[in-house]
Amino acid sequence: MLTLRFPDPLDPEAFLREFWQRKPLLMRAALDFSCDLTGDDLAGLACEEGVESRLILEKGGESPWEVRHGPFPESMFSTLPDSHWTLLVQDVDKFAPQVARLLDPFRFLPDWRLDDVMVSYAVDQGSVGPHVDDYDVFLFQAHGKRRWRIHQRPVAEDAYIPGLDVRILPEFQADEEWLLEPGDCLYLPPNVAHWGVAEGECITCSVGFRAPAMRDMFAHWCDELVESRAPLTRYRDIPLTPQDTPGEILPAVRTDLRRRFQEYLAQDDEAFRRWFGRYISETKANLYVEPQADAQEVEMFLKHLRERGVIHRNPMSRMAFSKGGAGRDSLFVNGHEYQLPCEHGGILAAITHYRALHFGYLQPWLDAPEAVDLLKALYRDGHLIWE
Ligand code: SIN
Ligand code: CO
Repeated sequence: MLTLRFPDPLDPEAFLREFWQRKPLLMRAALDFSCDLTGDDLAGLACEEGVESRLILEKGGESPWEVRHGPFPESMFSTLPDSHWTLLVQDVDKFAPQVARLLDPFRFLPDWRLDDVMVSYAVDQGSVGPHVDDYDVFLFQAHGKRRWRIHQRPVAEDAYIPGLDVRILPEFQADEEWLLEPGDCLYLPPNVAHWGVAEGECITCSVGFRAPAMRDMFAHWCDELVESRAPLTRYRDIPLTPQDTPGEILPAVRTDLRRRFQEYLAQDDEAFRRWFGRYISETKANLYVEPQADAQEVEMFLKHLRERGVIHRNPMSRMAFSKGGAGRDSLFVNGHEYQLPCEHGGILAAITHYRALHFGYLQPWLDAPEAVDLLKALYRDGHLIWE
């Protein structure tokens, strides 16, 4: 299993305490990960429907940057210049198993915070321009060299070149700079301005984390409350008496309405737990998982698991679990919840821990019909696959 080599004397605990979400960290020779994905492989992916990709060209002159969105026709790649462009492909961990291995060293962080591995292929001088990201990212240099320059001064929300659909800063003055070589990794917290320019051909893998906007998250929770708590009935008056000042909204009306709203808002930790799991496990629309197994195959599931000895988690299935307060634990997958009596809840840690689920890992729960039913449901819905 790959592990991340922090510079001495840092370990994951010290990294989380001192750097995570706070300060950039350069890690030389951080990972012995050789990525056998080539620029051609990445270009191939960028031609596929359902794969999110962008091409960024630096052209200089009046409109110095051009952004194109995939999927691209194969013929486009032979028309590109020899320098100053980069191809970015999102979610490569879902499409290339060898890249999914790059996630292993980052599992000291919770899976639900992780977004994807974006892989970029650049020709000499290729870059996406100076910018800030909203997310934490580990920039792993997989092949060739890239010069990273950063500064940590605040950047105004709207300080971008207008009219582009990437956020490129019109001005950039670096405070620090490093040349990253294969195996090196640069951690950047959100909002640190950075610019990575390829020196010769290079491949960079960005392990990116997710942080929903608080406003979106709260709005989603409020929608859930409206659905589950707010009655469809109309407003009814509190006991009224004739009013001398008919133009006035009386304080008692307000007090009564606030009391009712507070009832709808009353915190229910179990409902909140289940909402959050569904919300945070939601996946991007292009990564949708189709149900796969028919009823007969599902019936044969256990027999086949025993024979084959291993089943795999679908890399498209975004999973997290949480322990319930009412005797039922939950597994959340791509925005859906699967429940299980908590006495068998241990299987959820196993399912979410391993990409390849060997028979032996699951065996302790296979006498429990509820646990077997859960595995069958995951198999039916396409979240567990043989290959
Ligand atoms: C890149 O890989 O070229 C860009 C990654 C980033 O700056 O976020
Ligand atoms: Co960036």
